[in-house]
Amino acid sequence: MTKFYCTTAIDYPNGRPHIGHAYEKIITDSYNRWYKLLGYQTHYLTGTDENGQKLIESAKAAGKDTQNYVDENVVFFKELCEKADVKYDDFIRTTEKRHHDVCHELWKKIEDKGLIHHGHYSGKYCLSCESFYTESQAPDGNCPEHHKPLDIKEEEGFFFKLSSFQSWIIDYLKANPTFITPKTKYNEILSRLEGDDLMDLSISRPNQGWGVEVPGNNKFVMYTWFDALINYYSALNESQREFWPADMHVIGKDILWFHSVIWPCILKACDLPLPKQVYVHGMVLAEDGKKMSKSLGNVVDPMDMLAKYPCDTFRYYLIRNISASSDGKFSEAELVSKHNTELGNDYGNLLMRVIKLSMKTLGDVNIDATDVTQEIDCSETFKKAKSFMDEREHNKAIETIWEFIYSLNQYVNDKEPWKHKEDLKQFKHIVYNCLYGMQAVTFMLQAFMPTTAASALTFIGSSLNTIDSLEFGKASFKLTEPVALFPKIEA
Ligand code: ME8
Repeated sequence: MTKFYCTTAIDYPNGRPHIGHAYEKIITDSYNRWYKLLGYQTHYLTGTDENGQKLIESAKAAGKDTQNYVDENVVFFKELCEKADVKYDDFIRTTEKRHHDVCHELWKKIEDKGLIHHGHYSGKYCLSCESFYTESQAPDGNCPEHHKPLDIKEEEGFFFKLSSFQSWIIDYLKANPTFITPKTKYNEILSRLEGDDLMDLSISRPNQGWGVEVPGNNKFVMYTWFDALINYYSALNESQREFWPADMHVIGKDILWFHSVIWPCILKACDLPLPKQVYVHGMVLAEDGKKMSKSLGNVVDPMDMLAKYPCDTFRYYLIRNISASSDGKFSEAELVSKHNTELGNDYGNLLMRVIKLSMKTLGDVNIDATDVTQEIDCSETFKKAKSFMDEREHNKAIETIWEFIYSLNQYVNDKEPWKHKEDLKQFKHIVYNCLYGMQAVTFMLQAFMPTTAASALTFIGSSLNTIDSLEFGKASFKLTEPVALFPKIEA
């Protein structure tokens, strides 16, 4: 069986999850469910990044012990997954022993190869990013991500010989042009690598009693990015190691450098295979197009949205409305409008109309393909949707599915099955075509809107819910009285 191992970034639990966390987990969940539908053996990892200095500072500010502080916050991240129907296979916390053990193992492996040395470093540092910035990255002395002045930080510690990987990583990227997707991000990283010299990376911090200790030297802990990246590998136990290398790391653009340069070099130093792809999604922005921030008062809390609206409406809106490869704005008004029109009218009402009319006319019978000829074909739609998913363009995949839904609505309007109640053969022929179309659409929608799809499949009572159901004539249907899938929401 072909495997598919996907991961999200692991989130800093220094507060409650925000809309970006929800977005990243939902789109990854959709990819995972999609490949599972297609018969892959899938594995989905998410988790929390708990070892950073940032966590010590945030706990201090909250007047809490660091461990209690992260334990409390992690609950919110798991709750988000539950409420957003994000079905991960594993949730790693980097304070777990399994993670520390593998970090030690890999550190020693790199050290034995002579790729770690002791030294001094001074540079401009951003605590929010937990990262140093070079002169060319931050010429004005401000963090390019947080737009705050960088601190000068001087450190003694351990360094990873990142500089020795420069030509290797450039060659690797050139030989693997889809390693970073989308192309714009690939180009950005490649040109930065070709323009800037790679510096050795400081991979330790003074031990303040929190973090993964450096093997053999407890005065230091590992730099949090060094340990955090390893989570993708450390989460897999012996029997799960066949999932390595990961097929797709899903991340936001602010952490691309770590994933597309530092992580591959760490793996190369450990003689481990590289992930197949780093897929970089855009950022979810506020309705006004600005970054969400408390001070601007434009923050949208995903848990509020999930309390107010059906989970699948929230998922659908994020998956379809935020472009897979660039930033997108979140508008609650638009979410409500899409719920009422695209979900309620185009999909929900179509299903309702066809089922109700069939049950009224044909009664409680099994509707199969006998005496029916094919007028609806979803094979092109599936092919297109699959190719968009493979290209990491989930918004276009769902758009393609919607085009098919529009054509089904058109089919019903053109064929006017209600006018053929006297000619049951013709009536059944139209209805079977519609049900086949609805089944095909719903089969694919299981990846994006699992609860809705499960209800819809129950209503149409299909005899088949495998990829074979996309083939016309294979399934038969035993209808059940439906309930509205997307009751109208007043704006
Ligand atoms: O960066 N829209 O954690 P994090 C979409 N611990 N995605 C967003 C976003 C937004 N507005 N804001 C943030 C970290 N993200 C590290 C990762 S991985 C080994 C370590 C994304 O909690 C962000 O790009 O700050 C990242 O992919 C994820 O949320 C977690 O961000």
